[in-house]
Amino acid sequence: MKKIIFSGIKPTGIPTLGSLLGALTHWEGLSSQYNCLYCVVDLHAITIRIDPAVLRENGRNMLAWLIALGLDPEKNILYYQSHVSAHAELSWILNCYTYVGELNRMTQFKDKSAKNTENINSGLYTYPVLQAADILLFQSNLVPIGEDQRQHLEICRDIAERFNKIYGDVFTIPEAFVPPVGARITGLQNPSAKMSKSDEHSNDCIYLSDSSDEIIKKFKRAVTDSDNTIKFSEEKPGISNLLTIYACVTNKKIEECEAEFEGKGYGAFKLAVGEAVAQTLAPFQKEHARLMSDIAELDAIASRGAAKANEMATPTLINVKNVIGFV
Ligand code: TRP
Repeated sequence: MKKIIFSGIKPTGIPTLGSLLGALTHWEGLSSQYNCLYCVVDLHAITIRIDPAVLRENGRNMLAWLIALGLDPEKNILYYQSHVSAHAELSWILNCYTYVGELNRMTQFKDKSAKNTENINSGLYTYPVLQAADILLFQSNLVPIGEDQRQHLEICRDIAERFNKIYGDVFTIPEAFVPPVGARITGLQNPSAKMSKSDEHSNDCIYLSDSSDEIIKKFKRAVTDSDNTIKFSEEKPGISNLLTIYACVTNKKIEECEAEFEGKGYGAFKLAVGEAVAQTLAPFQKEHARLMSDIAELDAIASRGAAKANEMATPTLINVKNVIGFV
């Protein structure tokens, strides 16, 4: 039997080049070896106030990006979290097996509530419990996550083990899935930090929807250093990041890229990286536009995904209700 991979993707606007190269590109190939579920986690998205039209648009946009980037809906289960009510049901149940003390330790909750003092709602607080429900509902074996989600996976495992200790083997204990070559892409303006959307410098981040001109302009402005040699090294975070990006989009080794640009100036190098990225993104952008031009079809794909997810989740939810003692 194939192992199960579950990932939740927040529908917060347009994905970045960082998330593409760090995670999304590695997902396409997984479906031959694993049963993969990719859930657009719209329930998680409402911990902040969001305009209904924007939320709907973001959800569809994200689903369309996942498909455009190569996740075939016939080979993967793609759906919206809000379409499968088992997520919310299991989440409530697991809330009763999660301690306030554990949730108080979540660094993401502390960070987010510090940033958003006027809306520290209980959804933000119990966010990790819903995330645990997402994962446990499918008996998932593996969860592809970045460093920022390790703590959330840890609490998920703790909740599952606690539940299993009381009721027997109900849940599979999930593990982190670290893709073999997950590149860590940093910001173009601040190359010491992860490329992030929340950064106030819009030049820091390449969105998958950026036009060719925008992409090239942003790379031209990328922060580097002053020694003018194109070498990968810890002391050269800007150049190293550009080399990583170039290597990823051209499928070359870092050393090959260094050799290719030996003796060339930073200007020419940055232009080449920008052009290579623009060229890589173009076909994805075209496919994304095609998918977004037929919303009825996109929604139909999502409902087929939800039906499959529902079918997979139901036995676990029924078992949970049984072992707890619901009539
Ligand atoms: N919290 C994750 C994030 O911020 C999103 C997420 C929700 C998730 N449910 C999940 C990730 C389940 C992995 C598995 O990106």
